[in-house]
Amino acid sequence: MSKAKVFITRRLPVELKQLQEVATVEVWTERQPPPYDVLLEKVKTIDGLLCLLTDKIDSPLIAGNLKVISQVAVGYDNIDVAAASKRKIPVGHTPGVLTDATADFAWALLMAAARRVMEADKFTRAGLWQTWEPDLLLGPNITGATLGIVGFGRIGQAVARRAKGFDMRILYTSRYQWEPELEKSLGVEFAPFEQLLQESDFVTVHTPGTDDTYHLFSDRQFNLMKPEAILINTARGTVVDPDALYRALASGKIAAAAVDVTEPEPIPQDSPLLTLDNLIITPHIGSASRQTRSKMAKMAIANLIAGLKGHQLPYCVNP
Ligand code: DGY
Repeated sequence: MSKAKVFITRRLPVELKQLQEVATVEVWTERQPPPYDVLLEKVKTIDGLLCLLTDKIDSPLIAGNLKVISQVAVGYDNIDVAAASKRKIPVGHTPGVLTDATADFAWALLMAAARRVMEADKFTRAGLWQTWEPDLLLGPNITGATLGIVGFGRIGQAVARRAKGFDMRILYTSRYQWEPELEKSLGVEFAPFEQLLQESDFVTVHTPGTDDTYHLFSDRQFNLMKPEAILINTARGTVVDPDALYRALASGKIAAAAVDVTEPEPIPQDSPLLTLDNLIITPHIGSASRQTRSKMAKMAIANLIAGLKGHQLPYCVNP
């Protein structure tokens, strides 16, 4: 029997030996993702596809002999899961292993934005540090402030655990209210979205990118926030309307933001957002710890191998 064929859309930080035992593996080695027409050609002959969030896997790509799609990410908004389910193709993802790394990074952004770390670094390198000044680069307190967490799954809850150590009042909003035991152990209170926006000093986004969360943050929501509020987004760029974010930051409707994700990605070099000093932008690196990225790749490979063998994927989004 001939070996299964697999296409991997980028180099991964792990050994492929285990996968190569069960499949002939082709890896796309360019820095940029494979173009759509390359993917269209590949899917005609492969059994398994291992992809990243930069690959748009839409219905025409879910074709041929494909038996499994395995994504190296927890989010899978780039994949037409409904089309895959229709063809009974399992889609794997990598939940859990990136929770702490992403929560750590959200926390790093929150602290950097609040205490103006990027501006301070720029100021120092520009030779502007001449003396100690009582009102130089002031920011708000983090300890004791109110944090609003939008989306209270694994990563939102991990952020709450960090916030607890900073004696914060922690509000969360999500599709449903969690059990009182969990709320108590994390020290959080459920709040409707609008109340959370009105009362929070920091708002951090941890929702998936879906039709329901598309531009969840737009002019109306920024208008409800405090002028001193800081927005953090390590989830999906599509959750925040970039034009409304620009208006909110440029007009002082909110004080600052720090985002690891943008719409589109990468952010266009002529985006007006790049002109703002009260915005930190990083290139979607929330999960980028060495250990985490390696675990994500291993998990995606395990999903892929299971799919090639016709077994249930360990982490499947469409069981
Ligand atoms: C994910 O996994 O969905 C992140 O956005 C990338 O780690």
